[in-house]
Amino acid sequence: MPLPREFQPDESERTNPSDATPLEEMVQARISRRRLMKGLLLPPFVAAFGEFFAAREAAAAGTSLTFAELDSRVEDGHRVAKGYRAEVLIRWGDAVLPGAPAFNPRAQTPEAQLKQFGYNNDFIAFLPLPKGSQNSDHGLLCVNHEYGSPELMFPREPADEPRPSPEERIEIREREKKKVDVLMAAHGHSVLEVKREGGAWKVVADSPYNRRISLTETQCRISGPAAGHARMKTTEDPTGALVRGTMNNCAGGVTPWGTVVICEENFDFYFGGKPRPVDALSLERYSIKGKPKWDLGEYYDRFDVSREPGEPNRFGWAVEYDPYDPKSVPVKRTALGRYKHEGAAMLVNKKDGRVVLFGGDDQAFEYIYRFVSKNPFDPKNPEKNKDLLDEGTLCVARFDDDGTLHWLPLVFGEGRLTPSFGFDSQADVVIDARRAADLVGATPMDRPEDVEANPVTGKVYASLTNNTSRDIDRLDKANPRFDNRYGHLLEFTPPGEGDQQDHAADTFTWDVFILAGNPNKKRDHAKYGGEVTKHGWFACPDNMTFDNLGRIWIATDQGRNIHETRICDGLWACDTVGPGRAQPKHFFTAPIGAEMCGPCMTPDNKTLFLSVQHPGEDKGSTFDDPLTRWPDFKKDTPPRPSVVVVTKEDGGAIGT
Ligand code: FEO
Ligand code: CA
Ligand code: CA
Repeated sequence: MPLPREFQPDESERTNPSDATPLEEMVQARISRRRLMKGLLLPPFVAAFGEFFAAREAAAAGTSLTFAELDSRVEDGHRVAKGYRAEVLIRWGDAVLPGAPAFNPRAQTPEAQLKQFGYNNDFIAFLPLPKGSQNSDHGLLCVNHEYGSPELMFPREPADEPRPSPEERIEIREREKKKVDVLMAAHGHSVLEVKREGGAWKVVADSPYNRRISLTETQCRISGPAAGHARMKTTEDPTGALVRGTMNNCAGGVTPWGTVVICEENFDFYFGGKPRPVDALSLERYSIKGKPKWDLGEYYDRFDVSREPGEPNRFGWAVEYDPYDPKSVPVKRTALGRYKHEGAAMLVNKKDGRVVLFGGDDQAFEYIYRFVSKNPFDPKNPEKNKDLLDEGTLCVARFDDDGTLHWLPLVFGEGRLTPSFGFDSQADVVIDARRAADLVGATPMDRPEDVEANPVTGKVYASLTNNTSRDIDRLDKANPRFDNRYGHLLEFTPPGEGDQQDHAADTFTWDVFILAGNPNKKRDHAKYGGEVTKHGWFACPDNMTFDNLGRIWIATDQGRNIHETRICDGLWACDTVGPGRAQPKHFFTAPIGAEMCGPCMTPDNKTLFLSVQHPGEDKGSTFDDPLTRWPDFKKDTPPRPSVVVVTKEDGGAIGT
């Protein structure tokens, strides 16, 4: 069976992997793409689209961000604002564990990949060493690997015989299985010890902290209300409390007690098969449909729901692990609900010390969730914090047009979350969190990505990346644009001031922060806090972080929208208060085809880590003929997703 052509799911419009494009059409498409991309790479696009760039040159009046803004364009390399350095720290295939062989993309093996840095790095967390310190020059870098891009990871094979013999069929199957094994090994997570010495950051080779967490090798535990439930049991795990691996780890968060939460996002894409009638509704609600993705036997049978109906219920969770203990068992915390978790931002509630976690479900018309722990965080008693994420209240957001945000509890036995509606316990509620959220009347959003709290003001920001399926009769004030191509950011305000601020309250207020897109293009209906420069606007916000001054740093993921915006993805920053509020400035540009992920600053803000995910990805871009060969730019070397480290040349804090 051939490898799926499009491995990456498109959350707004699912591709059908069996839809092969006739060769001639592919060639034509490739020629026109080449022409188009050639145009994109050259300055003339400025002239071609000049009429849209009527915005002024100068940066937003009153912004606290003093860096000289980057110009927006399409490039095959990365760029950072003047006065900063941006260097590649680690690339796909670089060594993580002792004994990792040198990267050889033409002869990659699953065994090598399991010791090397995985593909499509996304979320990044920096945890200082020693544990509990604020050290900004030495720590653990915890990095997710969301998915694999086979067309960029593997060279093209010679065409198979049109009618292969049985022996040839076995050979083809073996070859495909090896590729899928490599792909799977490239998923997961890496932990790296990193150090700044003489101003330069490096990965500490063979550090005892270095670790690969993978789908195939890492034993995980399941905890919370769904642990041990009949719906969680499989042939491999009759207890329903253990699961091999985690996958599609997108963004995440750091707990107040120094562990890391990594989020399983587009897990649905890997499952298929004929469901049992009893599971049909649940599977449909998570977009699990069609044939199993791989007919490769053995290990891959687990993704066929007709064979293993419990297996899809064991993915789609937020997973907590301790990076300081390389042997720690990652735990899928089911109390947080099962959905396509983008991230998991956490804070300690000022009013009562409980832990509050925000998460977005990244698919068109899905929801924003919140979890509040039952017990408070106890900084003096680490043992008591270990399982705080197992008990508490999961809620989902309803945005009223009057500016009120209601957090609606998803609690078994309350409202319609009862046996009459197919819920027999809290396990059913968390396994089918989406359906529970439908029943309580949550607001369907324009693809929620990160939801992050500003550490200075306590206001919470949600990025809604885009939703072109939003039509005119489904508008509401929190999702105010139809055919929303470029996404928006909302701002939530919890009640209470100072030490009475209450992120666990039943209601917040909400506002639109930014409607992204080009403010000079009428059809975009973009809106910022004031006038932005011609390089200050962005499209498709995704991950976010805040610096110590409470300024927001926004990473973008436009996908194929780059063909319309003619700007690469990157990182923009703006104030959230004062005269520069919601007026972004362009700080970093990712290479063509890449999305920007994982913005993460050290405690002193003097280092910024960035993830460049899927450089060179575009229709028709391949290992043999990629759009870019970033970052190596070596003949015969494909593009390599990598972590970039940004520092200021004068040694100061980023953005000052
Ligand atoms: Fe993996 Fe929602 O991005
Ligand atoms: Ca994302
Ligand atoms: Ca995205």
